[in-house]
Amino acid sequence: MDAVTVPREKLLATLKAALPYGILLSAKDDIERYTRDWSGDHFGMPLAVVRPRSVDDVSLLMRCCSANNIPVVPQGGLTGLVGAAVAAPGGGEVVISLERLNKLRSISAIDFAMVVEAGCILEEAKRHAEAEDCILPITFGAQGSCRVGGNVATNAGGFNVLRYGMTRDLVLGLEVVLADGRVWNGLKLLRKDNRGYDLKQLFIGSEGTLGVVTAVSLKLFPKPTQVETALVGLRSVSDAMALYARARRECSDLVTAFELILRGGIDIALGARAGLRDPLSEVCPVYVLIEASAGGRVDLHAILQDFLISAGDLIVDGVVASSRAQGDQLWLLRELMVEAQGRGGRYLRTDVSVPISTLAGFVEDALQALAKSHPDALPVTYGHVGDGNIHLNVVPPVGMDGRAIDVLFHETEGVIFDVVDRYNGSLSAEHGIGKVKQQAFLKRIDDVSLDLAGRIKDALDPGGIMSPGRIFPPRASVQETGER
Ligand code: LAC
Ligand code: ZN
Repeated sequence: MDAVTVPREKLLATLKAALPYGILLSAKDDIERYTRDWSGDHFGMPLAVVRPRSVDDVSLLMRCCSANNIPVVPQGGLTGLVGAAVAAPGGGEVVISLERLNKLRSISAIDFAMVVEAGCILEEAKRHAEAEDCILPITFGAQGSCRVGGNVATNAGGFNVLRYGMTRDLVLGLEVVLADGRVWNGLKLLRKDNRGYDLKQLFIGSEGTLGVVTAVSLKLFPKPTQVETALVGLRSVSDAMALYARARRECSDLVTAFELILRGGIDIALGARAGLRDPLSEVCPVYVLIEASAGGRVDLHAILQDFLISAGDLIVDGVVASSRAQGDQLWLLRELMVEAQGRGGRYLRTDVSVPISTLAGFVEDALQALAKSHPDALPVTYGHVGDGNIHLNVVPPVGMDGRAIDVLFHETEGVIFDVVDRYNGSLSAEHGIGKVKQQAFLKRIDDVSLDLAGRIKDALDPGGIMSPGRIFPPRASVQETGER
C-alpha cells in the first residue's frame, strides 16, 4: 500500500475550498440518509456527501478529487442492491449525490426522445414522457425511488425488457463528467450515427467506475392506448415457457411483460396484506403475469382472450383483468411478494439469466440442487422469464443467527451459480456486480476480458478514484484517511 494517510479534516478543507458554498455535507446527521441502501443490507460512511447543482459543480469536484487522489462514489436512488453506490465503511470516499441534478432538459414527441438529468427519479421521467403522449419503458418496482443516472450506470432491466430492451437499448446519448473533471458531451438525439466508437456504451453498466453520468438522452415510444393484464396458472415452468413462445407469435408480438411466479411467491404476497384473496380458483404450482400493450385499431382484449383460449392445453386456470384497477391488483401480488419475501430480515438475492430455451431446465436443476444442499432454506423464485432472467432468492430458516446466515448465503449462492455455469448463463442479469457479486464474477472472468476491462479503467480513471472496488478490486493508490 503506497497510500498516504491524510487527516479527514484536511481533506474536507480541501474539498470546501474547491467547491461552491452549500453543496458539501459532512455532519453526521446530514449525511445519515446517504449511508445505506434501500435494503439496509449495504451501508458505509462517506467522508462527505456532495450534492452538485450543476454539471460545472461536478466538474469542479472531480478536478479537486483527482488532484488530491480522493475517491468518489456517484449515488442515485440506492436501489441497485449490490453495494455499488454506498460509500466504503472506512470513511474515505466522497458520495456524489445526483439528486439536485433532476431537470428535464428537453423532450420531443417527434424525435421520440427526451434529455433528462441523472438525478431525475425514474417515475418523474416517465411522467414527463406521458405528458407528451409517449412512454419511457424502463419499468420496475423501485421506479419511485431510483434515478435515471443510476438506471444508466447499472443498465437497469425490469418488466418490459422483452419488448423494449434494457436501458442500454434506450440510451441515445450521455453527458459524463470524467475522472479528471472534463465534461464529455455525448448527448445526441440521433438514431443512426456510425462515427467511430460508440463511447456511451462504456459508461452504461459501468456502475460508477468510469465517470459520473450527469444527463441522459433517452428513446421514447408511443403511449399504448390499450393495456391488458392476465394472470394464468400452469402446471410447470416448462409449460410457462411453452406459453411464452406461443404468446409472442400469437399476440402479434405485443406482449410487454411475462413474469413468472412460483406458488411460494403467491403465498408470500397473500400473507403480506389482510383481505387479499387467492387470485385464481385453483391453486397452481406456477403462475405467469402477462401484460400486452397496443395502440391504434387493434382489439387487444380479443387478441389476448383468443390466445389464452387457444392455449387451454397449457393453462390450468386464468383471469384477464376487466379494468385497469383489476390489472393493478394483479401487479400488486408481484410487488407485495418482493417486499415481503424476506420476512423483514435478510435474504439472498440473485438475478441470473440463461438462454430462454433452457430456463425451465435451469429452474428445475437449481431448485433441486438447493433442496439437496440446504433443505431448511426457503427458495423464492420469480422473474422476467421472457428475457431468460430469473430471481432465485433464498430466505434463511426462522431464527438462524447472523453468522450462519452469511454462511448459508455464500453456500447457496455457490450452488445456484454452479448451475448457472452449467447452462452458460450470467450471474448478474440485472443488478450488476458492485461489491456483492465481485468474488463470484472474478472467479469466472476470462483473461482477455479482464485485461481489456483493466485497460479501459486505466484509460478513463488513471488514478483509480472512481468507485474503487466496485466490479473490480480497488487499486492500492487511492487516498486513505486518518479515520481507519
Ligand atoms: C425485481 C427487481 C428486484 O425484479 O429486480 O423485482
Ligand atoms: Zn428483476
